[in-house]
Amino acid sequence: MKTKLPFNIIYLESCSSTNTLLKEEDYAFNTCLVTDEQTMGRGRLSRSFISTKGLGLYFSILLDKSNYLNILNKITCLVASITRRAILKQINCEVLIKWVNDIYINNKKICGILTESKNNKLIIGIGINLYHQVFPGTINASSIEDETGIRIDKDQLLKDLLEELNNIQNNQSSLMNEYITNNLVIGKMVSLLINEKEVEVRVLGVNSDGELVINNNGKQEQITSAIITKVSIL
Ligand code: BTN
Repeated sequence: MKTKLPFNIIYLESCSSTNTLLKEEDYAFNTCLVTDEQTMGRGRLSRSFISTKGLGLYFSILLDKSNYLNILNKITCLVASITRRAILKQINCEVLIKWVNDIYINNKKICGILTESKNNKLIIGIGINLYHQVFPGTINASSIEDETGIRIDKDQLLKDLLEELNNIQNNQSSLMNEYITNNLVIGKMVSLLINEKEVEVRVLGVNSDGELVINNNGKQEQITSAIITKVSIL
């Protein structure tokens, strides 16, 4: 028997950003805001996230941070892993994670995750490009349909994601293993943007806390926050 999920889902036709609404307005914990489009969809480090009407699954969940303190440092990684799992329930191809919060098919970004917190709020936002669309040439993004020919069932995907999310505490070790094994940056030379400075480093791995382990000019370092701007094939 399946347990009833604790999330209260609210569907919107359009909004600025589901993360911003949950962060700035007064919603109850466990509210899940799903929208058809976002006019100001946001990504990490103040980047924008294109959220075109009807072409993706764009949603955020408001959680009580005090229930997640034990996994707060790696929550983005765990959410990336559950998102990969939920996508793989409907398609059969290689789906990889790019540290820390992006999901790729055929070397194109098809999903981004934005985890934020404010006071006791923990907000998890997920944007998945589902159906055919043309992105500006400057962005290396695509949709699941464009990469695989498959039109994902959006409602089923949301349901699978919420089920996985509800079990995130119990499954953290397998989710973290999957995150590490299916990460496209491991072993690669990458350009890292840290505090507005770009450095070329070799990625040695991702540790169990979700930190990027790098070789920076012969020195091994652990990185908690940065953006990978370029991944070389070497
Ligand atoms: C990124 O690419 O860095 C993360 C993108 C996260 C996008 C999702 S869509 C739902 C939620 N609302 C937002 O404004 N952002 C997240």
